[in-house]
Amino acid sequence: MGEASQVKRVTTHVLQEMKATGEPIAMLTAYDFSMARLVDAAGVDVILVGDSASNVMAGHETTLPITLDQMIYHASSVVRGVQRALVVVDLPFGTYQGNSKEALSSAIRIMKESGAHAVKMEGGAEVLEGVERILTAGIPVMGHLGLTPQSIYKFGTYVVRAKEQEEADRLRRDARLLEEAGCFAIVLEKIPAELAAEVARSVSIPVIGIGAGGGVDGQVLVVHDMLGINDEFHPRFLRRYAQLHDVIIDAVGRYVKDVRSRDFPDRNEQY
Ligand code: KIV
Repeated sequence: MGEASQVKRVTTHVLQEMKATGEPIAMLTAYDFSMARLVDAAGVDVILVGDSASNVMAGHETTLPITLDQMIYHASSVVRGVQRALVVVDLPFGTYQGNSKEALSSAIRIMKESGAHAVKMEGGAEVLEGVERILTAGIPVMGHLGLTPQSIYKFGTYVVRAKEQEEADRLRRDARLLEEAGCFAIVLEKIPAELAAEVARSVSIPVIGIGAGGGVDGQVLVVHDMLGINDEFHPRFLRRYAQLHDVIIDAVGRYVKDVRSRDFPDRNEQY
């Protein structure tokens, strides 16, 4: 038996146990094989192939342009690099809203063509039919409430959501609906910490926060943001664990200098 087969994989049941025992869940995004290998080796429990690939990998202003084929390409690259983590893939904008049959066929394509373990969908009551249909097919679904970037043109800005009573109540209801439908977890993005903690206490499934405070069951960040590869994004919730922007600029700058001065390659770096 190879070493890979001895690694105990994270499953949706493991996440449920972590919620039950109060063990925090660490989740990060990844979009390619090399980063997925590093993130998995470092012990992350869940890897999200987020549609933030549209921003981070393709340079779009929003998550809306990324296609199902592009998400499958990113997801299958990630799956090849992962031995332990649960791999969750975002259903991209326009592949599930308002049509549960299309939602199911999008989710099936992701599962079949990438080998990922679950899908994530933004929204509550308005996408419930699609969520239920996908779950009926045996595909685990992670919900996503609060700031849902696929609806950015409805919101108009990326400010904190659910600060007002009406929106907070809708979010509470949506979280309950997703739990009752059978979602295995919910992401809460950019909402008041107190509300997020209340939702995490009120549902039996894990709640993973991004900009939602420390009272939830786990945290997720975009890997390029927490590694400081992207140095233009400074939201309050982001903790930077490295400044790779500076490290990479410095390393590449030295390489350019060495090539130009003919210092590279030297005698030991040739055949
Ligand atoms: O696409 C993404 O990266 C996400 C996270 C921010 C939760 O949905």
